[in-house]
Amino acid sequence: MNATDFIVVRNDLQQCKVIETELPDAAALPADALLVKVTRFALTANNITYAVIGEQLKYWQLFPAPEGYGIIPVWGLGEVIASKHPNVAVGETLFGYFPMASHLVIEAADVSKRGLRDAAAHRQQVSPVYNAYSRVSGDPTYAGRNGDYRALLLPLFMLSFLVDDFLAENEFYGARRVVLSSASSKTAFGLAHLLHKRKGLRVIGLTSKGNVDFVTSLGCYDEVVTYDQVTAMPQAEPVAYVDMAGNSALRETLHRHFGAQMVYSGRVGLTHRASEPDEPALPGARPVWFFAPDQIRKRAREWGPGGVDQRFGAAWAELAPHLPDWIKVVERRGPAAVREAYLKTLEGRVPPDQGLILSLAE
Ligand SMILES: NC(=O)c1ccc[n+]([C@@H]2O[C@H](COP(=O)([O-])OP(=O)(O)OC[C@H]3O[C@@H](n4cnc5c(N)ncnc54)[C@H](OP(=O)(O)O)[C@@H]3O)[C@@H](O)[C@H]2O)c1
Repeated sequence: MNATDFIVVRNDLQQCKVIETELPDAAALPADALLVKVTRFALTANNITYAVIGEQLKYWQLFPAPEGYGIIPVWGLGEVIASKHPNVAVGETLFGYFPMASHLVIEAADVSKRGLRDAAAHRQQVSPVYNAYSRVSGDPTYAGRNGDYRALLLPLFMLSFLVDDFLAENEFYGARRVVLSSASSKTAFGLAHLLHKRKGLRVIGLTSKGNVDFVTSLGCYDEVVTYDQVTAMPQAEPVAYVDMAGNSALRETLHRHFGAQMVYSGRVGLTHRASEPDEPALPGARPVWFFAPDQIRKRAREWGPGGVDQRFGAAWAELAPHLPDWIKVVERRGPAAVREAYLKTLEGRVPPDQGLILSLAE
């Protein structure tokens, strides 16, 4: 039996193809190894960002590919189809970071009731979060559509949760307005949803013309502004900017427009892939990357064991019921469909109300 890998040219993401590799023989797996079929995975702009910064953040090392190519990591669900680990059964469902492929071999370690870790040597240079798998068999919150929504949004919503917490902790740097770019993205509207519940704060979403209706319909932005209208925003009051778009020209326009009133400028994403390596010094607060692991570590210390999980779990439980109203899951299976979905995502042609759930497995 063969395995299927979706590979992209690392420095030219438009070039992509599907290759067949030999599936490891279940009987010949090393001790503690699991052979996992990747049953479904989500694809959003976030995965494209993983590819854009794959070299820098070592994401390409997670799932080895032929020279010059990479396999893009995705969040999704897998089924254990062979196991050499005494405590992990065939048929178990895992949730975590998978390759855009039909199968993955995991060197299972630190197996607990709730999860396990891939201890493969080539995976150890990234943050531990990318090597952790949750054991979710029989958990209704990961079954069917619930699992799809988790794959589509859970990792993104963690970022939304942390930014909301960070800004609130810092009293929004004195701003009563928060401006988010790529407002139609899942990460941005997850954050807007949280910010919207904070008293006395206006949440303003910047988006492209075609996505205004969607962003407005979400009900969590107090105002929606198109990119070509940003200089019409009032300048009198302080503003905090959370940037998902990573567009240098837009950032410069906003900083020059708000000047000293730009009291926080946090960089989170790169959806527009229009970030210049050398940006001029700008008026207002210096743009800084928001580094999620720092905020998690800080809160883990302050909130104690389980504190982050418990609060994040409560925030997710509150968000989850809204998701079917906001995002329609679109399922695509097989190499040709995955290729098409990938190129649409790369080119920013996926409507924001669609959530792509893909599979390369038979
Ligand atoms: N730093 C972190 O730890 C972290 C964590 C999570 C997410 N993020 C980042 O947040 C960003 C959003 O990710 P997501 O998965 O939530 O996105 P998504 O839901 O797939 O967002 C889609 C939206 O992004 C914009 N977009 C996508 N591709 C584009 C393109 N090629 N050209 C122009 N605009 C494009 C469009 O929004 P508009 O029309 O509204 O601009 C589009 O509606 C990503 O860059 C991701 O990496 C960072």
